[in-house]
Amino acid sequence: MTADSVVISGASRGLGAALALGLARPGVRLHLLGRDAAALAAVAGECAAKGAEALWVSLEVTDAEAMAAQLLAWDAARPLRLLVANAGVSAGTRPDGAPEGHAAALRQIRVNLEGALNLVEPVLPAMLARGGGAVLLVASVMAFRGLPDMPGYSASKAGLWAYGEALRAAHAGAGLRVTVAAPGFFRSAMSARVQGGGHFGQVSAEAMAASLLRAVAQGRGRVVAPWWLGAALRGLALLPPGLGDRLARRVRYRVMPGG
Ligand SMILES: NC(=O)c1ccc[n+]([C@@H]2O[C@H](COP(=O)([O-])OP(=O)(O)OC[C@H]3O[C@@H](n4cnc5c(N)ncnc54)[C@H](OP(=O)(O)O)[C@@H]3O)[C@@H](O)[C@H]2O)c1
Repeated sequence: MTADSVVISGASRGLGAALALGLARPGVRLHLLGRDAAALAAVAGECAAKGAEALWVSLEVTDAEAMAAQLLAWDAARPLRLLVANAGVSAGTRPDGAPEGHAAALRQIRVNLEGALNLVEPVLPAMLARGGGAVLLVASVMAFRGLPDMPGYSASKAGLWAYGEALRAAHAGAGLRVTVAAPGFFRSAMSARVQGGGHFGQVSAEAMAASLLRAVAQGRGRVVAPWWLGAALRGLALLPPGLGDRLARRVRYRVMPGG
């Protein structure tokens, strides 16, 4: 499968921008989504400078109708071969120690989980009808074990991971290649708002993007980076709850507000 027509959500900065730039080359049409129009235009300009054709639209990923209309228009103009659901927000225990609260928890489910489904589901029937394509879902190592200071985020990423595993199992025979990604910390506006705990094994957004794109190119069903952090959290999830919770409470975070 040649990823010559790609849609990426959350492409205005961070990992999404790095993925776009990692894929940008002559012959590739990139479709970039996010809300910040000026930032999207700047990323599109950098992709065009690398020889890609870069289209962008400012869209809220939780707006299912607008997302479907835009994606189907892009797909009709040139069939999409790779869908990258990357847009995400994070919240958690606030710097004053207050829990994230109902609204912030729900917002993460809506953007991180529903937003990803809003990207994949409208295009899926057409992709399957033409014999497949590829999907990259950006979850997190926090999909493997809920951490006490980021319950809404952990839930949103666990849901996305499970969705991707189901999708891959369901449609592999029809030529759909689904890669579920569980990154650990990488440097971005999002991780800069997370204080304390430990940003174990943190790498640049560009290095993380390169790992994820390698996994997609190799047709791998999962990518966990770094693998040892994913293994540690998976191990934690296998312990009896009391012991697992005690160990999980040793890693505490405070999350600055800001999306
Ligand atoms: N940073 C980490 O350490 C880390 C670790 C594991 C997983 N991840 C995941 O990796 C992905 C990228 O994270 P990042 O660190 O690059 O974050 P970031 O720098 O905060 O970028 C998030 C991107 O998502 C877009 N976005 C957020 N809400 C949106 C909405 N409602 N509608 C449309 N676009 C929206 C933002 O664009 P606009 O503001 O322009 O809308 C931005 O382009 C996320 O799914 C995140 O959960 C991050």
